[in-house]
Amino acid sequence: MTQDEQKQAVAQAALKYVVDDAWIGVGTGSTANFFIDALAGIKSRIKGAVASSVKTAERLKGHGITVDELNNTGELAVYIDGADEVTAHGAMIKGGGGALTREKIVAAASRKFICIADGSKLVPVLGKFPLPVEVIPMARSYVARELLKLGGQPTWRQGFVTDNGNVILDVAGLSIVDPVGMETAINQIVGVVTVGLFARRGADVVLLGTDAGVDTRLVKG
Ligand code: 5RP
Repeated sequence: MTQDEQKQAVAQAALKYVVDDAWIGVGTGSTANFFIDALAGIKSRIKGAVASSVKTAERLKGHGITVDELNNTGELAVYIDGADEVTAHGAMIKGGGGALTREKIVAAASRKFICIADGSKLVPVLGKFPLPVEVIPMARSYVARELLKLGGQPTWRQGFVTDNGNVILDVAGLSIVDPVGMETAINQIVGVVTVGLFARRGADVVLLGTDAGVDTRLVKG
């Protein structure tokens, strides 16, 4: 299977985790886009969706799927999203598309997190993919210096502004052997809005694309 076919396959497989008559959280990126397209086929079964980005909201609405604010829906039954890297334990790097803050908020407000990814995203140790960190613009240089102290090589994602009006530093060179510890440490840096490490609240289920089909690699709870 090609990478896109794998993305499509996991997106389709995620439909079985959609809860009838509920609000569901929907992620951002090319794999999430395949999921949105698949969700359109069963849209009458759900109340609607909370989007993790402006782009996702637009795609959902384009399919005639009701979109509402998280403040109006309360707790979500499930959140379905892709990842840039994921471990067998369900810890992830996210934010390649720059939507990490809203993704983390929607994930936190959801009972279950279903990660959908092609097989190339499974890694033994997180960190080869540069870790995105959303930062308040005036704190950019300060935060970059603090990230250097943690052993990373931050690069300003030029010309990119998040849906929240902030900037992103992509941090290369980290070998994240303790994802929860690293997430906590980066969260402590003043000026950081969100770090794209999803370890404290990782995935409950990881649906991975493989040549043989969809592999359910992890099930919590
Ligand atoms: C966006 C994300 C995406 O989930 C991540 O970048 C994976 O994207 P894709 O499905 O296109 O590979 O975190 O902020």
